[in-house]
Amino acid sequence: MNSAYSTDSQYIHPSILNADFMRIGEELDRISTADSVHVDVMDNNFVPNITFGASMVEQITRRSPLPVDAHLMIDDADRQAPAFAEAGASSVTFHLEAAKAPVRLARELRRKNAAVGVALRPATPVEPLLDVIGEFDLLLLMTVEPGFGGQSFLESMLPKIRRARSAISESNLEVSIQVDGGVSRETIERCAEAGANVFVAGSAIYRAQDATEEISALRELAAAHSAH
Ligand code: DX5
Ligand code: ZN
Repeated sequence: MNSAYSTDSQYIHPSILNADFMRIGEELDRISTADSVHVDVMDNNFVPNITFGASMVEQITRRSPLPVDAHLMIDDADRQAPAFAEAGASSVTFHLEAAKAPVRLARELRRKNAAVGVALRPATPVEPLLDVIGEFDLLLLMTVEPGFGGQSFLESMLPKIRRARSAISESNLEVSIQVDGGVSRETIERCAEAGANVFVAGSAIYRAQDATEEISALRELAAAHSAH
């Protein structure tokens, strides 16, 4: 399968949700050693917060050499998500809870040359998705309720990561598992051990004195505790 992510590699995706929006260009420069920039799109309906639209994604692709990983926390994903692939996002992740026809949408996004992710809120079970998981490049398991940066990691999500990783491996599929929410030096090892290989970190990286050093520390911890 032509996947943008290898399940044998670890990826660090800083979220700009906690960046200083008045200095966004410099804030993008601070994370130049990361693997992608994670852009949290919120519509004040799917989550009680509002952030950026497709034009912001397009501007980031022009300003930063990093691929854009767009995380859509928006209703009506079937209609809204394609615009983010057209804006140049390298991967587009929509929430299963917000999509009527996730397989059709995944195929449409792939036709628009984006890698495709499907995201689950903490209380959404992964099992009903497993029959169609091969349609996606990435499974995003939220480790906080989506909507805000700086929340505490939900330890109770670790068994869900493990179940997803073993089901995907048993099916011999190349689907990466991304974790998002409360990922830091304290929690990344357990996520990696459970089978995650793509790590979003917002406040851990943007609140660090030295973002480059934080990215490399997270990358080393993830590699040292990788489930592979
Ligand atoms: C939460 C967003 C996350 C958030 C992560 O809804 O999807 O990407 O920015 O922030 P931290 O790492 O601070 O939990
Ligand atoms: Zn996110």
